Amino acid sequence: MQVSFLEDLKNDKGTLVFFCIKNNPLEKYLSNINTKSKGFINKAIKISGLEYNNNSNVELILPQHSKADRIILIGVDYSKINNVYDWGRLGSYVTSVLNTKKIKKIKLIVSALEKIKIDEANILYGMVLNTYRFNKYFTEKKKKRENHFNKVTLISKNHKIIKSKWSRYNALKEGVFLTRNLVSEPSNNLTPSLLAKEAAKLKSYGLKVNILDEKKLKSLKMGALLGVAQGSANKPFVVSLEWKGNPKSNTYDFSFVGKGVTFDTGGISIKPSGGMEEMKYDMGGSAVVLGLMKSLALSKVKSNISAVVGLVENMPSGTAQRPGDVVTSMSGKTIEVINTDAEGRLVLADAVWYAQKTFKPKNLIDLATLTGAIIVGIGQEKAGMFSNSDKLAALLDKAGKEVGEQVWNMPIDSSYEKDISSDIADMKNVGSGRGAGSTAGAIFVKRFIKDVNWIHLDIAGVTWAKSDKPMIPKGGTGFGVRLLEEMVIKYINN
Ligand code: BES
Ligand code: MG
Ligand code: ZN
Repeated sequence: MQVSFLEDLKNDKGTLVFFCIKNNPLEKYLSNINTKSKGFINKAIKISGLEYNNNSNVELILPQHSKADRIILIGVDYSKINNVYDWGRLGSYVTSVLNTKKIKKIKLIVSALEKIKIDEANILYGMVLNTYRFNKYFTEKKKKRENHFNKVTLISKNHKIIKSKWSRYNALKEGVFLTRNLVSEPSNNLTPSLLAKEAAKLKSYGLKVNILDEKKLKSLKMGALLGVAQGSANKPFVVSLEWKGNPKSNTYDFSFVGKGVTFDTGGISIKPSGGMEEMKYDMGGSAVVLGLMKSLALSKVKSNISAVVGLVENMPSGTAQRPGDVVTSMSGKTIEVINTDAEGRLVLADAVWYAQKTFKPKNLIDLATLTGAIIVGIGQEKAGMFSNSDKLAALLDKAGKEVGEQVWNMPIDSSYEKDISSDIADMKNVGSGRGAGSTAGAIFVKRFIKDVNWIHLDIAGVTWAKSDKPMIPKGGTGFGVRLLEEMVIKYINN
């Protein structure tokens, strides 16, 4: 979507989109048109029954002698808008309306009320997020879910301020779209090595990217991650990324770590075939980390940020690891692999350890599509959050509520530790009972966390949308990019 800005409506051709506000629907341009047309706008609002609920519109095709071809009125109630997410949602609605009418470009007039602080940048963000499509594999145009709308000129007196604010959201959009593309990509075209190549492309945004191949992983003794990878013909990789936005400091404020299982069959503890295709998105954590790093680099955040993604494919084969195998992680701790389908935590064990050793970050946040149990527990609206720092968790919770990517604080106290004790190794990779499956995963990862503020986000439920949501066409959601970007900005400004 192309975005441009203008101070005034000069050449009012084409399609004009107006926000009509409850109790005060006719802003100055509209009221002008209304007067000139002897009350046409007022009549249209009345006859069409336009509702002021942020979810209603009326289309007016204009007669031959008028300059513009059509006007679309969006019924808005600003009192129902409470945070940046709600502004985005309104923008997203505008895109839906335009796409159903196959409209390609518009002029958007939002200069409605002086008293209300309108968040135009977030309206634009919501608009553009809803234009996303993953159409690359359709060869027939009619089967595509087309996005028609791709150009907006925003008309506002504050266009300069909005333009500078927009650059942050444009960067964010770039990151979210990268994440969505990677999550939606089928696993035959996104093996660990191909995903590592995608990460390497981020060098062009000023990120330092370091790719560790299997030989290097062996020399680092990443036995937990390598054990998962050993059943696959596609070799594993670990990739680290660095953004030095604060060159005066040599410490990292954050390290983000992502699970990148490019396909999870379950391994020898194989999954049922029904729905297994969904496991292409088991690299969602790594995709969020890459999208986030792209966004942070594009908006040149003034902070040093590092990242690590662990990229493997979990396959059953003659070389695959067996239930009951014991592996030694990079930390030196040993793990009894009871279930080869609990592979994400094995990948994270070495990835978080490597991130801590290499970058010594102040805060570490890992993201992983780790457990089906998190979906059973809290569904697909929120990510499960597990943390050793109430302060960091509170900050993320706040960020989540504002941007509409919510997290829910889950238990991870020491009472759960015994769940993963093994008879023959330092720990086993699954819990003993049937309960608290997501906590068992988190408590396992915690064993590899040392003296760092840490959050584990279980994003198994939020990475994929089975149906359209505001700002999210069905498919890969990109959940986490915006949340963590907001968190970084909040942290810097604290
Ligand atoms: N990748 C899965 C978790 C998952 C499930 C992600 C559904 C997205 C949607 C993970 O590797 C897994 O298989 N977890 C097991 C853990 C169990 C063996 C302890 C699970 O959730 O069943
Ligand atoms: Mg699994
Ligand atoms: Zn998995």
